[in-house]
This record gives sequence, structure tokens and C-alpha cells, in this order.
Amino acid sequence: MAEITRTFPKDFLWGGAIAANQAEGAWNVDGKGISTADIAIFKKNVSKQDYKKHQAITEEQIQQALEDESDRDYPKRRGIDFYHRYPEDMALFGEMGLKTLRISIAWTRIFPKGDELAPNEAGLLYYDNVIDEMHKHGIEPLVTLSHYEMPMHLVNEYGGWTDRRVVDFFVRFCKVVFQRYSGKVKYWLTFNEIDSLVRHPFTSGGIVPDRFDNVEQAVYQALHHQFIASSLAVKYAHELIPGSQIGCMLTRLLTYPHTCDPQDVLAAYRNNQFNYFFTDVQVRGAYPRYMDRFFRERGIVIDKLEGDDEILRTHPVDFISFSYYMSLVASANSEGLEKVSGNTTGGVKNPYLQTNDWGWQIDPVGLRLSLCDLYNRYQVPLFIVENGIGAYDQIEEDGSIQDDYRIAYFQSHIEQMHEAILDGVELMGYTSWGIIDLISYSSSEMEKRYGFIYVDQDNEGNGTLERKRKKSFYWYKDVIANNGLVPHITG
Ligand code: BG6
Repeated sequence: MAEITRTFPKDFLWGGAIAANQAEGAWNVDGKGISTADIAIFKKNVSKQDYKKHQAITEEQIQQALEDESDRDYPKRRGIDFYHRYPEDMALFGEMGLKTLRISIAWTRIFPKGDELAPNEAGLLYYDNVIDEMHKHGIEPLVTLSHYEMPMHLVNEYGGWTDRRVVDFFVRFCKVVFQRYSGKVKYWLTFNEIDSLVRHPFTSGGIVPDRFDNVEQAVYQALHHQFIASSLAVKYAHELIPGSQIGCMLTRLLTYPHTCDPQDVLAAYRNNQFNYFFTDVQVRGAYPRYMDRFFRERGIVIDKLEGDDEILRTHPVDFISFSYYMSLVASANSEGLEKVSGNTTGGVKNPYLQTNDWGWQIDPVGLRLSLCDLYNRYQVPLFIVENGIGAYDQIEEDGSIQDDYRIAYFQSHIEQMHEAILDGVELMGYTSWGIIDLISYSSSEMEKRYGFIYVDQDNEGNGTLERKRKKSFYWYKDVIANNGLVPHITG
């Protein structure tokens, strides 16, 4: 047994993450246009396990949402009012000692409909203020260009990302924000969880399934457009912001085989390989050969323009960022096996792991495996930009929130992160999701809380929005101050 101090590399970017659509609220102020996130309805009666229903969108729901001007059933319209409260929130982040904060820019604040020629100055000014406020507290911005929202106008008039013209609109948006925030923002991410387009085509691609005869074909065409848009974002970030670094963003869905039956191993291998398809394109700069068979067997033909392969090849990302919440298990024949849910997906239950309140399997070692595997495959720096635990928090009589389960989750994951660094992984930083309670992506619940900071608001939008420091707030503050975990005994 030896006592070790888990100290992290100098300049390690400890931080937190939020996204515009889940935090800002203010969905219709200062010229903002309506986005796909603004029509995400609160799913009252959907079981926690039924992740597929959380992602469904119908023509009828869209019409209802567009006619409804209130935020009652659409919690992302109100968020946690970060739009107005960011100075107070940033002061709390500064108090925690955050080195970085991951935010996203809502496309609809800058280009309300998406296809305008000139940007909305009020939207640009808002992010100027937010970014300046970060710097005031010594916090380095990490900005996602597209996090689960796009203008509804592009959905209704162009079919979302299935239309090639959307690449041009997005690139115009990127150039505007690169020029505007050049000198203020060094770290950028292109598409949040780009792989999620295949799991929730509406949220990530603006694809309304009812409107397409062959949804799968539409999804992979839209994905190709996002790959191109992502590569062009890399190109223009490098041209317009000297010294900038821009990464892709993957949902890391580590899958284990249910047994050592080769068929189960193959099932898990396929899932893992499919998860790497996205980074293979964005880091290696070309579609991997194993996807030829996948497309052929499904009759999918991707319409590429001349020059597309060259764009992908010449503008790979500088680093890989990813989210990691849980691991999965695959079986060649899962009939009769107990199932669990995960982040917009699910699988067979792993008997060795505990789950959170939403059935996601807690697996810190899986984070180490993910880090080592990604690094060995690509040898580019990694950045964990989402990791955390959704839980129901209780306020004690004395007003405190004793979230030891959250501390335990983070402690165990940070330990494994450190192991991966000892294994040789180059890790730039870590931003916990969400540093402050915000609206859940999948169900639009408020009571699925991730933060170190509590926000007084319930699922229906009742509450004062007052912010409170949880026990974990002080714990994370110490981690950052010590640049790692305090000494403890290891075997
Ligand atoms: C990630 C998303 O997939 O998971 C976030 O990038 C999301 O936007 C997070 O909030 C957690 O998922 P959920 O559904 O619990 O909010």
C-alpha cells in the first residue's frame, strides 16, 4: 500500500459545462429566433427507461409548439435564466476556481432564421458580455458552435441538415463568431455529440422523420453535411483566430460484451467500432472502409460534392473532446435479458455496476478505458467535456444539500482519469456536466440535477431561481485548488 497524491498536469483545464439551450432561457428576447430546442416538450408521462420516446417528434407536436407562445410545457424556453443571471453565476464559478467554462452559442441568437445575410447584433453583444465576464474571473472560454439546437426556419424550409445549403449557412455563422470573438476565445468545439444525429435526428439534425420516405438515408446525408461543416469550421478557426484549437465532440459509448461468447464479443466490437466512425472521419480525415459495407447493406448512398474528400482530409480536428456518463453491455441475443437505459441509448444490464436514479450504469473504470482506447487509436490530445451524475437532490432543514453521492461519482471518475494520465494519455482538461443545475436534455426535466450549484426551480417552472452551493461545490473547489485529489491510500 502506498500513499499517492493524484496531482494533474500543470495548466490542466478544470472546469464545468453548460449549453445555451438548457441554461439561457430568454427564448424570444433580443431578436432570438425559434430553435429546435424551444419546441422540446416536457415529457411528463414517459418512463425513465423509455429513451426512444424521449427522442420522438411528430408533425403534430411541432405545430402545437409553434402555436404555443408560453413556456409552460417547454422548459428549455425558460432554462435557468442564465441569460440574465450570468454575472451572478460567473461569480460562483469564479469562487469555485474554474479554469474553464464550456458554453455554447445559440445559432438563433446570431442568425434568428439561419439563412440571413447579416447577423443580429444584440445576440453578438450578449456573448461578448458573457465571454468578458468569464475573463473577469480568470475563466478560459471553451465554446461549442452547435449544441442540440438549430433554427426552426431551416427545419421547415430546408429539411434541416439534409440540405447542402445549410452547410453554407452554418459556415457563415462560424465565420461571424470567429471574427467577433477572435482574441477572446481560443478553444472551440464543432458539433456536440455529432454521433447523436443517428439516435435523435431531430435534435441534432433538424430531421422530422414524418417528412422523409427514407429516414436513414436522410440521416447519413445530413451527417455528411455536418462532417463537411465541421471541417470547414476547423479551416476558418485556424485562419481567423491565430493559435486557436478546435475539437470534435463524441458521445463515448463504451460497450462490453455480455459474455466471452465470440458472438457477444463481436456485438460489442461492432458497437465500439460504430462509435469510432465519427472520430475516424474527424481525426483521420476520411470515411473508414468498414462503413462501406454498412452503407451498402442498407442501400445508403451519400451524395458528395467534388472536393468533399479533400475538405475532410485537409482539416482534421486538433483534439478530441467527448462526453462520458456510463458504459453499456451488448449481447448477440438480448432477448430475455434485463435491460437498462443510458445517455440516449440503452443496453443489457451489467451485474457489476450500480445505476443512478435514471438507470444509467456508473462505471469509472470505463472512463479510463475510454481515455486509453481513444488515445491509443488517434494519438491526439483528449478533453473530457461532459461527465456527471443526474440525481434527485434534497434540501435539508438547515438549507444545505448533502450530495455525497455526487462527490463519490466525481471522486471515482477523477481517480480513473488520473490513472489514464499515468498510462500516458494526453488530457487537456475536464468540464463536469452541468456545473449548475439546468434543464435535462432528454426529458426537459429540471429535477434531474447535475450541478455543484442548486437552482431553485421545479419541473413546472415554479421556484425563485435562487442559486445555492451544494456540499459538492466545496469539494470540487478543493480539487481545483489542489490541482487534483488530496492524498489517499491506494493498493
Ligand atoms: C449529453 C448532452 O448527451 O448529455 C447534454 O450533451 C445533456 O446536453 C447530457 O444534458 C445529459 O443528458 P440528460 O438527458 O440527462 O440531460
